[in-house]
Amino acid sequence: MRPSLPSPPASQPAGLERLCARQAAGYGYDHQVVISVIRPAAAAVTVTAPAKINLQLAVGPARADGYHGLVTVFHAVSLLDEVTVRSAPHTSITVTGEDAALVPVGESNLAWQAATALAAAAGVAGAGVQIAIRKRIPVAAGLAGGSADAAATLVACNELWRTGLSQREMAELAAGLGSDVPFAMVGGTAVGRGRGELLTPALAVGKYHWALAFGQAGLSTAQVYATCDRLRANRAAAGGGPEPAAQPELSTPLMAALRSGDPAKVGPLLSNDLQPAALSMQPELRRALAEGRDHGALGAIVSGSGPTCAFLAKSAAQARDIAVGLTSSGACRAVARASGPVPGASVIRAGAPS
Ligand code: C5P
Repeated sequence: MRPSLPSPPASQPAGLERLCARQAAGYGYDHQVVISVIRPAAAAVTVTAPAKINLQLAVGPARADGYHGLVTVFHAVSLLDEVTVRSAPHTSITVTGEDAALVPVGESNLAWQAATALAAAAGVAGAGVQIAIRKRIPVAAGLAGGSADAAATLVACNELWRTGLSQREMAELAAGLGSDVPFAMVGGTAVGRGRGELLTPALAVGKYHWALAFGQAGLSTAQVYATCDRLRANRAAAGGGPEPAAQPELSTPLMAALRSGDPAKVGPLLSNDLQPAALSMQPELRRALAEGRDHGALGAIVSGSGPTCAFLAKSAAQARDIAVGLTSSGACRAVARASGPVPGASVIRAGAPS
């Protein structure tokens, strides 16, 4: 019988220890085998990751793999989920906060998949981790909250296990989890291409203040894309409207406005090809958009696949006024204020191992 693996000597750096063949043989393993054991770098690691708004979302036709080619301008805002991970014999998830009851706590949760994918890539498949998610980003809201949790879990487990994976390997893992996960890793303002996973940083000057109106019920991203296809097909059959461009184009006026740092220039240039689909699925969003405009928003748009509506304000004070106006109008379930751009998934605490 093989002896159980002893802990690595304390003199070795914490993290993922790759034991060489000689050491492995000493532990009773075949001398050809290179094994990995984990001595966590910290007892617990806490990471925050941001919600995103799409300042432009130009959607092309469906590709052969079912995804839609797109060009988008991602913008990370200060509405943050928080994920804490701890080593554990088995992987588990707990969720508290906004919409906690709606979040799956099993393998279907993207955070679970993130931990599993990282463990496999780092050669520690089977390493368990306790994942505690504190949600502030509403679920199925078009704000990429699940992607934020996946990105936070990747960064937190990477810190816990000190995997030594390169940035590129981490980005590939992120893209494999979902189209918006790579952006949640980097944050800021960035242009996304492909299905959203191919990122280029965008030059955006200044700070942008937002009021966010949350819809009464969530929308499925897949269904919103499918509705977009259907609306376009109906329009084409009726002889109206142009076909979507096979290669959607980045809005150069929007990029110039972002470089100017003037929200009054950015506001009218916000655009979202998924908005008609989201509005057809939740017509009451029209009222929220109109209320926000009536309260002086510089731009009013459905965020991503919706149903969250995002309102660009000229100042933090005006964002508060818009949020108050939206609340008293009853046009939405709840409101929040946020500013952007903010960084992507960031370690905020790493407790010493006991
Ligand atoms: O990549 P992610 O899992 O977040 O995508 C969820 C769903 O949204 C996909 O299954 C697909 O139906 C749709 N989608 C799409 N084109 C994209 C991104 C997402 O059709 N570029």
